[in-house]
Amino acid sequence: MSIAGEAWELLSDWLPGNHEPERPQLQLATVTDEGTPDVRTVLLTRFSPEGFWFNTDSRSRKAQQLRSTPAVALLFLWPGFTRQLSVQGVASVVPTSESAEAYQRRSPYLQQLAWQNTNAFAQLPASEREARWDAFTHSGDLSQPPPTWAGYLVRPERLTFWEGNPAAASRRTEFTWCAGEWRRTYLAG
Ligand SMILES: Cc1cc2nc3c(=O)[nH]c(=O)nc-3n(C[C@H](O)[C@H](O)[C@H](O)COP(=O)(O)O)c2cc1C
Repeated sequence: MSIAGEAWELLSDWLPGNHEPERPQLQLATVTDEGTPDVRTVLLTRFSPEGFWFNTDSRSRKAQQLRSTPAVALLFLWPGFTRQLSVQGVASVVPTSESAEAYQRRSPYLQQLAWQNTNAFAQLPASEREARWDAFTHSGDLSQPPPTWAGYLVRPERLTFWEGNPAAASRRTEFTWCAGEWRRTYLAG
């Protein structure tokens, strides 16, 4: 179900290219074992006709939730009442080699975060956190990701592009994967 045709054209037009250094933010919604929704912001690592990649810590709540329920929703929002893209899909873990490549493209700050951003670290007083951070900045090894660094690919099943229009009503263009093809529908914004 790779993204093709008009859906792919819109996606490539709306999202910044994978080599743009500033990565887009998106909201990633998951479902807990109790069926409660959960949501947080992550960075889009990259996208392709296969779907959307993001990276996280395999010990995180979202990673635990994805192990039991891989169904997700993603939301991208553009500033100024202009555009919104919402996606329903299924997330799967990517091979370590792929997530290692994504780690290499992250800034040194984000690489260090991948190493040190643990719940245990969060319990420490500010002075201790700053001292440990500083020590790692000077002598830590950022050359490889920590073993807990994980990457996910979200393969979409539905893509909904919302566009504002000051001259007319906002409108959604929705692509749904149905019987082996992408079906397009226009919906009220
Ligand atoms: C702008 C922004 C970008 C973020 N990017 C990521 C990211 O790419 N990966 C990640 O694991 N957490 C990222 N976070 C932190 C998450 O929002 C979240 O707090 C953390 O991953 C723990 O989420 P969880 O307990 O639901 O798993 C980001 C937060 C903000 C505000």
